[in-house]
Amino acid sequence: MSTVIPIRDVEYQHPLASISASACDTRHTWARVPPEPSQAERAVLKDRIRRLLKERNAVMVSHYYVHPDLQDLAEETGGIVSDSLEMARFGRDHPARTLVVSGVRFMGETAKILSPEKRVLMPDLDATCSLDLGCPVDEFSAFCDQHPDRTVVVYANTSAAVKARSDWLVTSSCAVDIVRALKEKGQKILWAPDKHLGSYIQRETGADMVLWNGSCIVHDEFKAFELEALKKQYPQARVLVHPESPADVVALADAVGSTSGILKAAHEMNAKEFIVATDNGMMHKLRTLNPDKVFIEAPTAGNSATCKSCAHCPWMAMNGLLGLAQVLDSGANEVHVDPALGLRARVPIDRMLAFTAALKTGHSAGSLVPDIGAV
Ligand code: 13P
Ligand code: SF4
Repeated sequence: MSTVIPIRDVEYQHPLASISASACDTRHTWARVPPEPSQAERAVLKDRIRRLLKERNAVMVSHYYVHPDLQDLAEETGGIVSDSLEMARFGRDHPARTLVVSGVRFMGETAKILSPEKRVLMPDLDATCSLDLGCPVDEFSAFCDQHPDRTVVVYANTSAAVKARSDWLVTSSCAVDIVRALKEKGQKILWAPDKHLGSYIQRETGADMVLWNGSCIVHDEFKAFELEALKKQYPQARVLVHPESPADVVALADAVGSTSGILKAAHEMNAKEFIVATDNGMMHKLRTLNPDKVFIEAPTAGNSATCKSCAHCPWMAMNGLLGLAQVLDSGANEVHVDPALGLRARVPIDRMLAFTAALKTGHSAGSLVPDIGAV
């Protein structure tokens, strides 16, 4: 099978360029999306992966946005397909010696930070994220230094170094609960990197927040005007939106949630049709779990469309069966995190995991936050 993989040019807004006097705030990067294998090749690759997982004492940890093959194979072989929070928890708690993370780089790094003794492999180590790219640690540290009185809360979609500079880590499934608890303890927040998620949390909690100016190239593209038109076309449909989307899109939602929150809403809501504003990799799980319901992609096209991603993350798309089989075979593409940095980055991750675990067992959120200013 050919391994020549075309490189795709990707544009993203760079938050620092827009702050400085630079004329253009658009940066270029790239993604390398593997070609789709044929049916026959897929069957062969899946068999090879099943065998290698056993031989290598390895388990698959996949995100909802990766190719359906990598989601189904993960579940079929005793791994997990999930959101970034549950991926982190599963990888930490699973006894396998090797974790194969299909997703983007920060997910592999989080797995390594939580399990430094395990081998963490990824199909492609260059699978990044526009939020991570748009939040370099030096500039982020300088931003933190300007606000020493604020508790630093960062999104999981960041480098290990940015996590190490933070007090709390959150994912979109627990961000509102954690910030609300910090606010109730009188803490003011410095938030990074996603400006849309940050302003959503601010609206939901009323917390005093300063925001970094990053965005996700996938969710930033959803268009409110065109979504309103689609709603008129499907008047019975309920609208499910990921909070990395712009505020005018969030305002049209019947439910706002993380990837797992969207799945839960689709399952629980008494409707037959849904318009979904998140990466279209989610459609696989939504349709498999709700075969009697119809899921329609929210629009990214329209007058102001740039279609940088067309609702599918170019870096999530870098994960494929061939890459997975190759890394299991060779042990290549191992994720490394400097051990000292990892120890520091683990502090905010552990806080998030302890907070969310305790919340599930009925503890009040406020009791899970230390009684001090910036922690
Ligand atoms: P979740 O934390 O909801 O899995 O989302 C991660 C992500 O990258 C969304 O774009
Ligand atoms: Fe990052 Fe957006 Fe891709 Fe998620 S979908 S990994 S936030 S670029």
